Amino acid sequence: MKVTILGIESSCDDTAAAIVENGILLSSRIANQQVHKEYGGVVPELASRAHQQNIIPVVDAALQESGKSIKEISAVAYTRGPGLMGALLVGSSFSKGLSLALDVPLIDVNHLHAHILSVFITRKSEEMRFPAFPFLCLLVSGGHTQLVVMKDHLELEIIGQTIDDASGEAFDKCAKVMGLPYPGGPLIDKFAREGNPLAFKFSKAVIKGLDYSFSGLKTSFLYFLRDRLKEDQDFIRNNLNDLCASIQHAIIESLTHKLVRAAKETGINEIAVAGGVSANSCLREAVRNLGTKKNWNVYIPELQYATDNAAMIAISGYFKYLKGHFSSLDLTPVARFDHL
Ligand code: KG4
Ligand code: ZN
Repeated sequence: MKVTILGIESSCDDTAAAIVENGILLSSRIANQQVHKEYGGVVPELASRAHQQNIIPVVDAALQESGKSIKEISAVAYTRGPGLMGALLVGSSFSKGLSLALDVPLIDVNHLHAHILSVFITRKSEEMRFPAFPFLCLLVSGGHTQLVVMKDHLELEIIGQTIDDASGEAFDKCAKVMGLPYPGGPLIDKFAREGNPLAFKFSKAVIKGLDYSFSGLKTSFLYFLRDRLKEDQDFIRNNLNDLCASIQHAIIESLTHKLVRAAKETGINEIAVAGGVSANSCLREAVRNLGTKKNWNVYIPELQYATDNAAMIAISGYFKYLKGHFSSLDLTPVARFDHL
């Protein structure tokens, strides 16, 4: 029997659609929204409008790329949250309408859970190498930083999380104070390649257990820059690469420090990293190096599936479909979840 899932993602500023058949990704399309660039961040109202414009062309493109017709879809999976309410409403309303019209089940997906399941995304031609359960996932996105033990595709436990800013937020906020456009994370990654990670030191918070904190680091960075700019107006321009490399180094040190601790405490050596910040080249390399040193099996999604995409929604929908986890039409989107 063929199980063909259409996945729809619209939680923030990417409108995306993907098709997964029997666990294999057939297509994945994303329409990025450029309208936010000049505002230095995502403007919710503009995001909702752009989703409305993009959603049908993106679904059409995903279907076309997959070679499937809309009649072959077994279920529609969509992001229920967390995210921007107006943006989520576009994807959820569209998915509800389509599931009714096609008379197929509707599957709600938690965006963060889907980031973790992105390590199961595979194209036909690729060799399959998946983590065994239980595995430990460092989930690092724009709004979340968590250490999660995955007991099964659909069963998980959060064992650590940030008590203030997320790591993606730390990247973006530090980039902003250096005058870089939003989102700053990828730019810090780029400039850091030419810089010295040990050029500057910033004070990091010491948090007990497996939790994280990034707001102190951000403040320390801000004060450091304020003092140096008093002496030299061009301090940022003259030291951009070293600043990016140093702040990136500090964020990654915090992330990996607790990851090592979590692996030790749980005794798990199947280690995954997922979410937008897992696109960071230095973090990818740091976790891979740790893997070699500590005998971990490391799983990190391909770059295109690290940041927001619909392939992760479709693969999550597939696992939920297999277990019969369907949702009713009266389920509403959720901007924030108290749980994963
Ligand atoms: O998962 P994601 O695409 O969206 C959310 O669910 O939040 O993550 C977005 C975050 C942003 O903070 C962005 O700056 C960060 O991921 N990011 C990066 C890189 N690529 C994306 N941070 C550091 N280095 C990167 N290469
Ligand atoms: Zn995301």
